[in-house]
Amino acid sequence: MQHIHKATVIGAGVMGAGIAAQFANAGVPVLLLDIVPDGAANRNALAEGAIAKMLKTEPAPFMSSRAAKLVTAGNIDDHLAQAAESDWIIEAVVERLDVKQALYKKLDAVRRPGTAVSSNTSTIPLATLTQGLSDAFARDFLITHFFNPPRYMRLLEIVTGAKTDPQLADTVAQFADRVLGKSIIRCKDSPGFIANRLGVYWLQVGVIEAIDLGLTVEEADAVIGKPMGIPKTGVFGLIDLVGLDLMPHINASLAKSLPPADAFHAANRELPLIQKMIAEGYIGRKGKGGFYRLNRAGGGKVKEAIDLGSGVYRAEQRRDLPELAAAGKDLRVLLSSPGKIGQYAWRVLGRTLAYAAALVPAASDNIPDIDEAMRLGYNWQWGPFELVDKVGARWLADRLEQDGLPVPELLKAAEDKGFYRLHDGRRQYLGADRTYHDLHRPDGVIMLEDIKRVAKPVLKNGSAAVWDIGDGVLCFEFTSKSNSLDDAIIGLLGKTIPLVQEKYKALVIYNEGRNFSVGANLGLAIFAANIAAWSEIEKLIAAGQQTYKALKYAPFPVVSAPAGMALGGGCEILLHSDAVQAHAESYIGLVECGVGVVPGWGGCKEMLSRWSTSGLLPRGPMPAPSKVFETVSTATVSKSAAQAKELLFLRPDDGITMNRYRLLADAKARALQLAVNYVPPQPVDLKLPGAAGKLAFTMAAEGFHHRGMATDHDMVVSGALAEVLSGGAADPVDLVNEDQLLTLERTAFMRLMKTPGTLARIEHLLVTGKPLRN
Ligand code: NAI
Repeated sequence: MQHIHKATVIGAGVMGAGIAAQFANAGVPVLLLDIVPDGAANRNALAEGAIAKMLKTEPAPFMSSRAAKLVTAGNIDDHLAQAAESDWIIEAVVERLDVKQALYKKLDAVRRPGTAVSSNTSTIPLATLTQGLSDAFARDFLITHFFNPPRYMRLLEIVTGAKTDPQLADTVAQFADRVLGKSIIRCKDSPGFIANRLGVYWLQVGVIEAIDLGLTVEEADAVIGKPMGIPKTGVFGLIDLVGLDLMPHINASLAKSLPPADAFHAANRELPLIQKMIAEGYIGRKGKGGFYRLNRAGGGKVKEAIDLGSGVYRAEQRRDLPELAAAGKDLRVLLSSPGKIGQYAWRVLGRTLAYAAALVPAASDNIPDIDEAMRLGYNWQWGPFELVDKVGARWLADRLEQDGLPVPELLKAAEDKGFYRLHDGRRQYLGADRTYHDLHRPDGVIMLEDIKRVAKPVLKNGSAAVWDIGDGVLCFEFTSKSNSLDDAIIGLLGKTIPLVQEKYKALVIYNEGRNFSVGANLGLAIFAANIAAWSEIEKLIAAGQQTYKALKYAPFPVVSAPAGMALGGGCEILLHSDAVQAHAESYIGLVECGVGVVPGWGGCKEMLSRWSTSGLLPRGPMPAPSKVFETVSTATVSKSAAQAKELLFLRPDDGITMNRYRLLADAKARALQLAVNYVPPQPVDLKLPGAAGKLAFTMAAEGFHHRGMATDHDMVVSGALAEVLSGGAADPVDLVNEDQLLTLERTAFMRLMKTPGTLARIEHLLVTGKPLRN
């Protein structure tokens, strides 16, 4: 793959700035340009302002403050020529053909031939954008449609024209996949491409049917949400998020460009309520509210929703819906339910699924691509064709016919067989040619999901499984709820170590859950505490300590590969691995203090060892424990893998994978690389400050307590943590070894478990999902 060493993004608005940040997150320097504001003293004010704003935005567009330094601000009058140094120029200016084309003409004069130029347009066809431009420009031009926010949305739609150089498009696609971490979907040059074409239709139908059937926005969002694997924002919550003001523009653009027979036109009705809301500034979360709002009148904070009939806000109504409850997980039962909830579910989903089927081949020839676009562009758990398979294509076709709606040809073709099937262990999909084809992953991608479909686990129990992922590597997978850790996981890990030693080369710890692990199973801990089964708890702590230690010193390499949250015991397993290959979106931390305990599976020990040997701190026994105390007592969680490196939850040479789909392959490669002439690590004894250190930490904590920044029970917990981190009562000249530290961790953990304050914290978290500040 030809590399992209430098990029230029033009237009420092919502999208341009966010796209520039993602290049920076990937370590690629990027020039961010905007216009020179009239009469501005600072000619780079717009781009500079955009960068400054991103540094304060949550969720953060930048993965680290270091990344932010890779973005250089400029303006198109003074710096456009510098774009010639870039390998890829992205245009993300206002959605106006004249503005975009004027810019392309200027760019064509300064750019190097062969530099890719792409537009982030959401509505203007490529054929229109390139009209009147040189062939040389058209050869290097394509559409790359990012989703908002560009760091977090994994979908990238790419459109190429007849003149686009396929190799150039391939370079861009490969780079966007491997380096920017996006999942690439090739689309036809048709209005709205794939995700927005279907997504906007779905939202529009969702709104008009709710109004026609007299549903509340809360009811509508409860139906078009979880039961369909759609995020709980549903229809109205999502429009609030995107901005009501964008809807009329997008709808108008689709209405203008879609063929007259397209089903979109029937759904594209004028909605006086929405027009009124926009006129009054109720444009969603970025304005003063939308379908939902937080009413702060009179100093209060009341959640409200708008009444779709009268347009008046009233208190939010979260009610249980018996029709939903009766349907359970059976989508067909819900869609067949005769009440207005069932009718609404059917009218919205039935039409949306039919529309999806009608998009083949207009928007794409490829069913899996449409599913992937909706999964990644709209965060649907299942794509539309997967949803059809859930209810049955024939059933859907019959229902559409009963309602007098047209049945798409493709749906008829799938009637007997479904859109996906398992054939000889391979997952296949129904092609536009009405025959089944193997589903292929992009080059180099390994998914555990695929391996599990055809293989039997090497080991397995109720909470974990071990898979052979080839080339002498085993993969340890957590399978418990939220991948929480329990004695079964520790037990299976204990059995896996001798097995790898005997027959394999390396172990990878990885899973495809939303979170790598949320930490120890607190429900079990509280259960044991309530029956005073203290020795059981202590046994589990000791077993975890010994197993993690055995993992660390095993005669083969262990590579952990987290994505999402890796908390508490989930973080400690990373700390004991020889290497970590982390997804860029890894949120790592030792959060034990938040529930009133200290890290007890070697987390304190490993963090002390890391900071002591990091070379980042001044010499002496105090700096490392201070650093760990600061991180652990505040239950700090990194907001990215890059930030986890700053906190030393990851080592400087641990790997970061940008594309979630490539994580397992990268981890396996790392494990195999380490397996060559592998030598396990040597234990390190530490010089810790002892009683004097504990006193210093306690005094610092008292300062926080005085200022109201630490609670009473925080003092108890941080006191116990201080004792562990300072090495107990050890004299500062003595060296403390790993086993002594593990004993200190275990003792402190057990002491805290028996305090009412800690039990209250755990119980509160389990019941409410929120930390208790007692
Ligand atoms: P925006 O309005 O936030 O930002 C546009 C920026 O372009 C402004 O900072 C403006 O000063 C600048 N600009 C205007 N003319 C310029 C010129 N001649 N040279 C340089 N800069 C110029 O717009 P947003 O939302 O970032 O959209 C940008 C593009 O991305 C549009 O084509 C839009 O359709 C597309 N898009 C937007 C998405 C969204 O959710 N907002 C999602 C996907 C695509």
